[in-house]
Amino acid sequence: MEIRSPKTVGEFKQYYELRWRLLRKPWKQPKGSEKDDKEDEAFHIIAKEKDKIIGVGRLHFNSEDEAQVRYMAVDKESQGKGVGSRILKELEGIAEKNGAKRIVLNARESAIEFYKKNNYKIIKKGHTLFGSIRHYKMSKSLRINQKI
Ligand SMILES: CC(C)(COP(=O)(O)OP(=O)(O)OC[C@H]1O[C@@H](n2cnc3c(N)ncnc32)[C@H](O)[C@@H]1OP(=O)(O)O)[C@@H](O)C(=O)NCCC(=O)NCCS
Repeated sequence: MEIRSPKTVGEFKQYYELRWRLLRKPWKQPKGSEKDDKEDEAFHIIAKEKDKIIGVGRLHFNSEDEAQVRYMAVDKESQGKGVGSRILKELEGIAEKNGAKRIVLNARESAIEFYKKNNYKIIKKGHTLFGSIRHYKMSKSLRINQKI
């Protein structure tokens, strides 16, 4: 399995398609709703096995010190095998290399355990998406600076 940035137009297409299929389609959200205005400046990571993208994740900066992870998704049949953790580690490495002191994210309730296993802590209750998905703000300090 490869963990890296998408390179070709085709890979970017699969990348956004997986995001939409896992994070938007079940709530009847239209194509296009899987993107925001930070795509051009963000770092994108895929997990690719043979010709198929099986996992995705994105990182952008909120400030010099703070990076944010968004849109983590792993295909159903590949979940629970460490793919999400490998994508997250790659994003954390990028954050660290680019000077971030901490990473924040808004976790769906169903993904809290996944982030806890990866050493994120709940900071506070967050927004509710599509009227039903409760989010929790979580954070992790990076090695270079342990104070949040
Ligand atoms: C959340 C998600 C990205 C995790 O990816 P993954 O590849 O399944 O996670 P991993 O296999 O790396 O899991 C790491 C650990 O977290 C645990 N874990 C992962 N997802 C979990 C869940 N939903 N509930 C409880 N534990 C979970 C795993 O069991 C594993 O524990 P272990 O180290 O003791 O074996 C993936 O399940 C997913 O795409 N879910 C649907 C979309 C989603 O909710 N995205 C997050 C939006 S905030």
